[in-house]
Amino acid sequence: MVLEQVGIGIAVTGTGSAIPAVSLSNDGLSQIVETSDEWISSRTGIRHRRLAVPAESLAKLSAEAAKAAIATAHLTPMDIDLILLATSTPDDLFGTACLVQAELGATKAVAFDLTAACSGFVFGMVTAAQFIRAGAYQNVVLIGADVLSRWVDWSDRRTCVLFGDGAGAVVMQPNERDRLLGFELRSDGTQNHFLNLAFQPRPKELLRGTTVGQGTFHPITMNGQEVYRFAVRRVPEVIEKALFRANLTIADVDWLLLHQANQRILDAVGDRLKIPAEKVISNLAKYGNTSAASIPLALDEEVRQGKVKAGDTIVSAGFGAGLTWGATVFQWGR
Ligand code: ACO
Repeated sequence: MVLEQVGIGIAVTGTGSAIPAVSLSNDGLSQIVETSDEWISSRTGIRHRRLAVPAESLAKLSAEAAKAAIATAHLTPMDIDLILLATSTPDDLFGTACLVQAELGATKAVAFDLTAACSGFVFGMVTAAQFIRAGAYQNVVLIGADVLSRWVDWSDRRTCVLFGDGAGAVVMQPNERDRLLGFELRSDGTQNHFLNLAFQPRPKELLRGTTVGQGTFHPITMNGQEVYRFAVRRVPEVIEKALFRANLTIADVDWLLLHQANQRILDAVGDRLKIPAEKVISNLAKYGNTSAASIPLALDEEVRQGKVKAGDTIVSAGFGAGLTWGATVFQWGR
């Protein structure tokens, strides 16, 4: 580590995303569980979601998103020093980031997974920034990717209508001007039971007196109303804290980029913060809740459509299982 580099600025210089080809509409879902397009779209704003087929791996989706982000940052995979993969749905419980590294041919990069559910991308952005500010790594790829279709109970209409699969990525680099202006991260494990995907051990006796727990993960369980209340109350708090740290106010915000869980949560947070609807980024009608992927996927779309422009101030917040929640304030580009 080069100590004199401590204090260097951060820039987000590339974005990319990848989504599975298969799309499932609300009408399609109503053939699987007792629901309707009217119920889902009026309560959540979701109309479609993308689903990974069995042969589609998290690693492949992640690598596709990363490749696009690396290209827009005008780098090659060989330039990458660190790959951070925020996911809760790995291909391999030992970690999927190394598979992404191999898929990219980014042989110089250190790669590891980070798990913070739907807050994973925001937690990852702060983690990546620490490595860059310390001078340890220069060119970092941060990926948020999830295939929750693997873990949803497809007979539970309270949860299966909400989620979709996808991946998004950014490149973060040192920069003379600091574009990562503030952050605030929080966790509360006492409320873990409101939303989890927990391991369910079954006792297996190896020898008399020596029993281990073997089993699998239970599908997602969620108390929707508690999660809704938590998001609407806690997300504005961390956004205000992150803005305070950045020495900015709501008036300075060009875009509110929230985890795409539910349009009603996006609207309620926007209203509480008095951010006009046209500044609130939303693409969940197309993709549903893609967990750690939702923020970078939406950012990539907005950047590619030319809506988010270089220098725009974005306040981004993730929230979800853990419970975890957090916000970052950053400006796109160098
Ligand atoms: N279709 C039709 N009816 C349904 C469906 C469905 N898909 N799901 C639930 N219902 C029914 C319920 O059975 C209930 O019927 P009842 O009154 O006869 O018992 C009725 O609709 C109302 O159910 P509620 O659960 O009270 O519905 P609510 O208005 O709270 O909306 C929702 C549910 C959309 C899940 C909402 O609570 C919500 O958005 N919560 C936040 C969830 C969220 O964003 N989670 C992701 C967090 S991020 C992460 O980390 C994964």
